[in-house]
Amino acid sequence: MTDPKQHYTLAEGRPIADPTVQQVLRGKPLTGGGLALLLDTPLIETLAHFPRERIPERVVHAKAAGAWGEFEVTHDITDITSAALFNKVGKKTKVLMRVSTVGPEKGSPDTVRDVRGWAMKFFTEEGNYDIVGNDLPVFFVRDPIKFPSLNRSHKKHPQTNVPDASMFWDFHNNNQEGVHALMQLFGNRGVPESVRHINGYGVHTFKYGKPETGEFKYVKITFKPDAGIKTMDEAKASRLAGEEPDYHIKDLYNAIEKGDYPSWTMYLQVMDPKEAETYRWNVFDATKIWPHKDYPLQPVGKLTLNKNPDNYFADIEQAAFSPSNMPPGIDYSADVMLQARMFSYPDAARYRVGPNYQQLPCNRAQYVYAPFERDGPATINGNYGGDPNYVRSQFSKATPLDRSSDVAHYEWTGRVQNYTSEVTDEDFEQGRMLWKLMIDEKEDQILIDNLAANIGKALPKVQEETVKMFAKVEKEIGERLQKKLDQINKTNGGPDHVNYGPYGLRPTYGAGY
Ligand code: HEM
Repeated sequence: MTDPKQHYTLAEGRPIADPTVQQVLRGKPLTGGGLALLLDTPLIETLAHFPRERIPERVVHAKAAGAWGEFEVTHDITDITSAALFNKVGKKTKVLMRVSTVGPEKGSPDTVRDVRGWAMKFFTEEGNYDIVGNDLPVFFVRDPIKFPSLNRSHKKHPQTNVPDASMFWDFHNNNQEGVHALMQLFGNRGVPESVRHINGYGVHTFKYGKPETGEFKYVKITFKPDAGIKTMDEAKASRLAGEEPDYHIKDLYNAIEKGDYPSWTMYLQVMDPKEAETYRWNVFDATKIWPHKDYPLQPVGKLTLNKNPDNYFADIEQAAFSPSNMPPGIDYSADVMLQARMFSYPDAARYRVGPNYQQLPCNRAQYVYAPFERDGPATINGNYGGDPNYVRSQFSKATPLDRSSDVAHYEWTGRVQNYTSEVTDEDFEQGRMLWKLMIDEKEDQILIDNLAANIGKALPKVQEETVKMFAKVEKEIGERLQKKLDQINKTNGGPDHVNYGPYGLRPTYGAGY
């Protein structure tokens, strides 16, 4: 008898001898042809499954490389947090990692100028801890309600269905809190050489603390690649976008296959809550960094990616990360954007993967007993058998937790009010600091060139506003940008030239643009 693990079967297990065979009514008068049959289960099953192979791609961060790895604690931070993940130097925790581009679709090239998403899941003994950050330290907006608009402006024009520089810059001209992030994006780091050579930032301020005492510190999280940052120039990036659209994914996969495991050091910047009250910048504003001279980087541990996924769809596409996944000892801060994200990611995962996405091996926590979340499509965890499905039952098998898992909450007094943040000169200060740094590092011309190449694809009235915005950071940026744009506009045949989108396509413009 054939080994049952060797032969093909239908999805219900019926053995099949040849998966290329379909049933056909053959005969006269159309010799050579025939009729397909509705009773042909192998054919119907094969064709019916195929269009259902896709799940919706992520609305942002659709294209990614991913891998498994491990995190090892190298420095004691038990004075800051009692999170079990960090409770012993030398402790190792399994990690799943996904590094993505943000704006373009799942089939887009890797080497576009874009932020890289830095999504990681630590499978800790007290539940999953996800850091869902970026490779740049600051974000474009700080009001969560603006997030969908920001992304639409970076994606495709609703009429032409191509990326559109006028739309991109029009959004930023009118939401100038993002100017610091734009300088990071159009600076040297906007296109990495590989995902093995990028930083990772938590971006928001988080609380690391001790549930048992209520003490906490504010922290910002940074990962730095042990092999250093490497970036790519525009010419190479454009060439690879055509020749090797999956350049970054291949690079990570091949490095891991060869045993050349990429690693990063994790650091914290730690701030006492008292200091936050008087610090120069609002610590709950994701458009701001804490300069290292104010809050130096303290090493915590080492992340190593050492295993490729056995199957990309199972391990990476179905993975669902969320800033709401925090074990005891780690907590959210008063950053409203972070709080909005805590809703949005599980919401997206329920839609994209299904309501039981947490049961899949790529997302499943080490220990889960949540018998009040049951049933639903594709339940694969045994559904808690006959355990009570209602709270406070005398038949419950759950044992009491031996300590508090409560978080230290703020005491709030205030008034519910309509709020949208205002842009002030403060929003240009850190861009100004970055410009000085760029001059010192001789990267200032790179910024001007990258900006001008992109802004030059926008309509003249949009260009004007963008130049004004950068002139608010530093007059010199405005002047040098204008000079470069004048050259570009001249070569393009004057101010009414046809414009290009941010990813190098050439859209036509409808009314209003
Ligand atoms: C992906 C929402 C801001 C980093 C996503 C997804 C949504 C989303 C809906 C797709 C999730 C999925 O389908 O599984 C939001 C909202 C934001 C926000 C509403 C602000 C209000 C940010 C910020 C960062 C960030 C500030 C970085 C600090 C990421 C990353 C992913 C992602 C890395 C990809 C996760 C993965 O690999 O599965 N975001 N986002 N997002 N976002 Fe955000």
